[in-house]
Amino acid sequence: PLSAMEQEDAIRQELESLHGIPLFKSFIEGWPQVKAFQARPDDLLISTYPKSGTTWLSEIMDMIYHDGNAEKCRRDAIYNRVPFLEMKVSKDLSGVEQLENTPSPRLVKTHLPVQLLPTSFWEKDCKIIYMARNPKDVAISYYYFHQMAKIHPDPGTKAEFLENFMAGKVAYGSWYDHVRGWWEKKQEKKILYLFYEDMKKDPRQEVQKILQFLGKELAEETVERILHHTSFQEMKKNPAANYETMLPTLMDHSLSPFLRKGISGDWKNHFTVAQNERFDQHYQEHMAGSDLHFQME
Ligand code: PPS
Repeated sequence: PLSAMEQEDAIRQELESLHGIPLFKSFIEGWPQVKAFQARPDDLLISTYPKSGTTWLSEIMDMIYHDGNAEKCRRDAIYNRVPFLEMKVSKDLSGVEQLENTPSPRLVKTHLPVQLLPTSFWEKDCKIIYMARNPKDVAISYYYFHQMAKIHPDPGTKAEFLENFMAGKVAYGSWYDHVRGWWEKKQEKKILYLFYEDMKKDPRQEVQKILQFLGKELAEETVERILHHTSFQEMKKNPAANYETMLPTLMDHSLSPFLRKGISGDWKNHFTVAQNERFDQHYQEHMAGSDLHFQME
């Protein structure tokens, strides 16, 4: 557990730069250990830009690893079942340390841009699943997350936050660089690249893609159990999945719940017409020349 002072230290700090990527000061302090992280060949990496479906995919993966046994997947909170590689808050809370104490086969969460992934994941040829989500919904989800998760700087107004998001002046930097960087890496490495919007539309099909990628077969009723247990409604009421067990000084669910809406296209309830036009233009400029495409709803 963290002392009151250590918790205070992690709250509403300005971001600093890690090789040009804006990040939390405490994470940067832990960077040498992350860089030197020793991946194991049977590690599976869940990689995302923040607010793109990390927790959803993590719960699905843990269920697959436990053959659809929901009780086993309640054994601990999701942030302990799937440790967050580069997370570091004071000296006691460290993703690397958590992972060192996790038996194989491990599920590992990261938000790192592809160029910062510790090299041992490539050397050990680990399986990687990347999940991307359309940037308008990511921006809105990230805005509400800034309000409740106090490790982030104050987001300001929605309009101010949107500007910062577009400019990449948020934790983990530019969404564009992140999704494109991982997309391009797919040319040379074993990466399953998924989309939040596809998972919403047809979760069964996406789970089948994952199973195929893992070379695993599951009975129809097992898949059924996985889909039920990982639905938004089930996860929202599951204390092992909804982050309600996090330190209340770090996350205040009364400001905005971690599992907030869980839909595609919520940005329409938040963007003004002018903001949307500006965003579309910016999007086109920054995605030019890429064969990576997003469904905005
Ligand atoms: S984090 O903090 O970056 O790890 O957050 P992350 O888990 O990537 O993203 C949180 C958003 O994912 C939504 N979510 C889900 N959507 C649909 N179905 C399920 N089961 C599900 N679980 C989490 C969550 O509600 C956040 O999105 P918003 O749009 O804010 O609701």
